[in-house]
Amino acid sequence: MKLDTLKTLYMNELRDLYNAENQLLKALPKMAKGASSEELKNAFQKHLEQTKSHVERLEEVFEEIGEKPKGKTCRAMKGLIEEGSEILHQDGEDSVIDAGIIVAAQKVEHYEMAGYGSVRTFAQLLGKDRSAELLQTTLDEESETNETLNQLRSSSALQSETLRKQPKRHDERERSRICRNERARLSAKKGPRLASKPDNASHSRN
Ligand SMILES: [Fe+2]
Repeated sequence: MKLDTLKTLYMNELRDLYNAENQLLKALPKMAKGASSEELKNAFQKHLEQTKSHVERLEEVFEEIGEKPKGKTCRAMKGLIEEGSEILHQDGEDSVIDAGIIVAAQKVEHYEMAGYGSVRTFAQLLGKDRSAELLQTTLDEESETNETLNQLRSSSALQSETLRKQPKRHDERERSRICRNERARLSAKKGPRLASKPDNASHSRN
């Protein structure tokens, strides 16, 4: 596509977003499944429903310029989803993995926010008021999702930090448990011997 008018650039970006949203429709259920925190799962499920509306809004926007809804492979979204998928397949502490999934999801949201902010402005400049409104609505939802992820990121990162410190405490607890058991074992060994001494002593006195 030759980018010689604002309309062609507008269409080019709409196609990118249309494809990006459709990729997300497939990725979000996997992210929801891979998340451990119920709040994070719910956030992804909610965003999946919103994403379906984002696709429908884009279809309306294409209609306003008399174009058929069509995507163009969004390589950026493909890469972002791949990075998210790598985190989902890693071993580790649940809350650390959750924090990693949130980072990946926020990168996705920021990409979409940049795209929607631009096409919303292009729609305004081209006098496509209805489309500008629809695109603004989606932009607001992407932004709200990002805010939700901000909050979840703080709690998840905090939990990860707590977990990071736990192995040490766990080791100390384990060490004192072993020490207690060892002391109990030794005193059980000593016990009868000590107990037999007075008996022997008493026998010897007799
Ligand atoms: Fe979206």
